[in-house]
Amino acid sequence: MDKALKAGIWLTSDLSIMLQLFNSCVITTKTVASSPSLHGIIIACTDLVIYATCQVTIQKEEKVMIELTVNGESRQLDIESDMPLLWVLRNELGLTGTKFGCGIAACGACTVQVNGNAMRSCVTPVSAVQGQHVTTIEGLSSNGLTDVQQAWVEHQIPQCGYCQSGMIMAVSAHLDNSSASSADETARAISNICRCGTYPRIRRALASLQEQRNTGVQQFDPATAAQENNV
Ligand code: FES
Ligand code: FES
Repeated sequence: MDKALKAGIWLTSDLSIMLQLFNSCVITTKTVASSPSLHGIIIACTDLVIYATCQVTIQKEEKVMIELTVNGESRQLDIESDMPLLWVLRNELGLTGTKFGCGIAACGACTVQVNGNAMRSCVTPVSAVQGQHVTTIEGLSSNGLTDVQQAWVEHQIPQCGYCQSGMIMAVSAHLDNSSASSADETARAISNICRCGTYPRIRRALASLQEQRNTGVQQFDPATAAQENNV
């Protein structure tokens, strides 16, 4: 027999609670709307016994004035204080280089830098970066490519490319904050996920970056890189 089930749900960060609540069900999720202020989820659950439809309750926060610096430019935004920084960057400021992957701080596609430290913007409310300096992939360098970006080009790392802006932001922050880190240590410190499996190329780029930073000499050899990458 079908049963109707209603649930008030508050935003994506509670996904684990929802999964627990409906752990006997097949669950599909769908973003409610393209509006950045409506980040709710609709769930349809089915199993042999129960058909449940969950109603989403969208709790809209009052707008407040948030000030922050993005890529060196001071910004003032009249916005909900709990809006994820990722939505602010992409939807309010049009900086779409930062990507949405998992939405639960697991994949790293949304990584930006806040005061030079890597931060996952999908789970960071914009109020948490009030008055802070946010850097996205668009603002990583104001003067050509950084050595990390150059290494990414030279080692032909991206395949689909979706994860790579987050990967570069995370690697750049790590190298800038721990200059003595070896390539292996850097690789272990970066938990970003690449579904295309570009890790071997990333490791080679990290090794050449490390060498380059230690000696001040660029180690890139196009012929060797082409051979390594089977280009
Ligand atoms: S989208 Fe933020 S960690 Fe995956
Ligand atoms: S290059 Fe495709 S997910 Fe990393």
